[in-house]
Amino acid sequence: MEHWPNPVIEAIITRRSIRHYIRRDVDKSLIDLLLKSAMYAPSARNEQPWHFIAIDQAELFEKIMKVHPYASMLSEAGAAILVCGDEMLELSKGYWPVDCSAATQNILLAAHSLRLGAVWLGVYPRSERMDGIREIFSLPDHIHPFSLISIGYPAEEKEVPARFKAERIRWNLW
Ligand SMILES: Cc1cc2nc3c(=O)[nH]c(=O)nc-3n(C[C@H](O)[C@H](O)[C@H](O)COP(=O)(O)O)c2cc1C
Repeated sequence: MEHWPNPVIEAIITRRSIRHYIRRDVDKSLIDLLLKSAMYAPSARNEQPWHFIAIDQAELFEKIMKVHPYASMLSEAGAAILVCGDEMLELSKGYWPVDCSAATQNILLAAHSLRLGAVWLGVYPRSERMDGIREIFSLPDHIHPFSLISIGYPAEEKEVPARFKAERIRWNLW
């Protein structure tokens, strides 16, 4: 078994997209921890231009699967989080997708550390997915759906793939 220098590095390297879940509601206290973790992500000028919709209703999962072509795992999910960007909270225009990415990754890592399984479902920048999600959740015009994270107790395990590529690294000059 591989040895990791500390739990943060271990969580980053062993996190995988989990798309099969045991049928069981996700503990609300765990969802709160995921949302808190999201809100501690870095953001441009610390603007935190995000909102989160926690979802646990099967009929909403059904609706999302109709507008998102790669979201079939929601049929097994116990919960999901929709990460949204708010352009009215931005002073540094154009950074909301970057900030929402950081929040999304925090949720994925926090979920993994809590032994939940999760996967990032891309919404932004695909306009048809954004429009579909906007309608389902009645989002105001200045709120942009960015990502959806499908969450559940894992029913699959994944190996750590080999991804380190020394040839992608340069020092001080291309
Ligand atoms: C921007 C983005 C969009 C993604 N969209 C989807 C998606 O719609 N459906 C899905 O099953 N996985 C989606 N993924 C998950 C990727 O397929 C996954 O992260 C990638 O295959 C690497 O696997 P890993 O997460 O296990 O390391 C997305 C990931 C990112 C970062």
